[in-house]
Amino acid sequence: MPEKITPDCPARQTLFEHAARLKSVHTMDMFADDPERFERFSFEFGGLFMDLSKNHLDRATLLSLIELARTTGVEKWRDRMFSGDPVNGTENRSALHVALRNPDGPKVTVEGEDITASVRQELAQMAGMVEQLRNHLWVGATDKPITDVLHIGIGGSILGPAAAARALARPKNQPIRIHYVSNVDAEAIFPVLESLNPESTLITAVSKSFSTLETLTNAETAREWLLETLPVEKIGRHLIGITAEPSVAVAFGIPKENILTFWPWVGGRFSLWSAVGLPIALTIGMDRFYRLLQGAQQMDRHFCDAPLEQNLPVLLALTGIWNTDFQNTGAHAILPYDERLAGLPQHLQQLEMESTGKSANRWDEMTPWHTAPIVFGMPGNDAQHTFFQALHQGTRTISADFIGCIRQDHPHDNHHDRLMANLFSQTEALMRGRTEMNGGSDIHRLCPGNRPSTTILLDALTPEAVGMLLALYEHKVFVQGTIWGVNPFDQWGVELGKELAQTILDQIEAADPVTSHDGSTNGLVNRFVKTRQTPSS
Ligand code: F6P
Repeated sequence: MPEKITPDCPARQTLFEHAARLKSVHTMDMFADDPERFERFSFEFGGLFMDLSKNHLDRATLLSLIELARTTGVEKWRDRMFSGDPVNGTENRSALHVALRNPDGPKVTVEGEDITASVRQELAQMAGMVEQLRNHLWVGATDKPITDVLHIGIGGSILGPAAAARALARPKNQPIRIHYVSNVDAEAIFPVLESLNPESTLITAVSKSFSTLETLTNAETAREWLLETLPVEKIGRHLIGITAEPSVAVAFGIPKENILTFWPWVGGRFSLWSAVGLPIALTIGMDRFYRLLQGAQQMDRHFCDAPLEQNLPVLLALTGIWNTDFQNTGAHAILPYDERLAGLPQHLQQLEMESTGKSANRWDEMTPWHTAPIVFGMPGNDAQHTFFQALHQGTRTISADFIGCIRQDHPHDNHHDRLMANLFSQTEALMRGRTEMNGGSDIHRLCPGNRPSTTILLDALTPEAVGMLLALYEHKVFVQGTIWGVNPFDQWGVELGKELAQTILDQIEAADPVTSHDGSTNGLVNRFVKTRQTPSS
């Protein structure tokens, strides 16, 4: 384990000095002082271009941040992760999602098992299913071909796959319709079921643990819905399970041959590269799914091989560390200026906040600094008319990633030009601001500027580019977790709420007055139960 660093270690102290030195310097002045600033702070890899120059930092700051990465052992932790060491310390597990996108790479073993062989085998089974389904050769209980897939999962079992499938779906190329349901609310699943025909619908129940309340409840509902029309002995043709717990899925009633597995060493939020990515492959076809994996693999290689000074995930992570730890930003916006990337903010919200939203560090102590910022976002122009006001003039500084594509996939230049003009102008406005010198003196119209943003431009939204982009963020999160000293691969915080929900569910079902909680929770549960027992007028 690398040496523990403390708030007063030289690497962090130097960064506080940079923050003090730059406090009265406007980012605009940094451009004036350094005409090459854009070139110096722009980085590129494989058609992914990243401009950090609108962040409030200079070259010396960046070098000190890189020093911080070295001091905290980012390179060593990265190498440990790729070699299969149990970097997920609190669960004593490897974190080998990178092996999922390198099925033909060198052998990696986990507890004596060659996992690259297992990855290839699962991919082959998934490819067979994709082939059958996309060619309408998979028939249901009444010999009707499957035309619709209902993907049931929650968190990492749905957000990443849905985001990637949406990014790469091209309408003319959709032999199978995919419907996603995650929430346990009946308002989520029943309207979808009502729009479907059980004879031509396949249910995919996706859960790493196969014990998640929301997913199991929805899967049970979907199975009952199938049984309303189809004979019990044939509904197996309408069920696929994707899980790291195949025996539990079999016990649920999914035929063994319809179970795709992944492994304990793949975290849910990192799992879209495994069979969890089935809806992506169904949407785009297996060839393009492999291209997605290849894009991610290219980013993995870059992350492993590029010097830290040129390493995109490292630099993106360090910029975030600078903003959070030394510029006091507490929130970070993800702003895709591309409707196809509309699922990205939610996926990254889980990826970042579930990975680094921790208070205990690897040395079993409370962290002395803040960790994950609040991550939120929505597609660009909509966000401008929603929460950008606070980005421009709010009392808190919020950092942002602007993500756009240079080449669009449609012929409508007038739309694309307007979209991208907004992306560029917003990053300029956030940095430049409107001061008395270049605007009026009406205090209500002034914008302080100096609001940090990073711009990521993809040449085009190809499967490779999406793979690279998603892997870029995965590694960013890993680097930040390493620097903050937290384990980015566990999520113990979500367990307490799950346990309490089970207790309260039992109490609601028993419908007796409850006194075992705090006054508020007792009061709310009792009011819920009592009001429901009273006929509504
Ligand atoms: O509750 C959080 C979580 O465990 C996530 O980490 C995970 O992505 C999600 O729930 C779903 O879990 P599972 O895939 O086991 O159903």
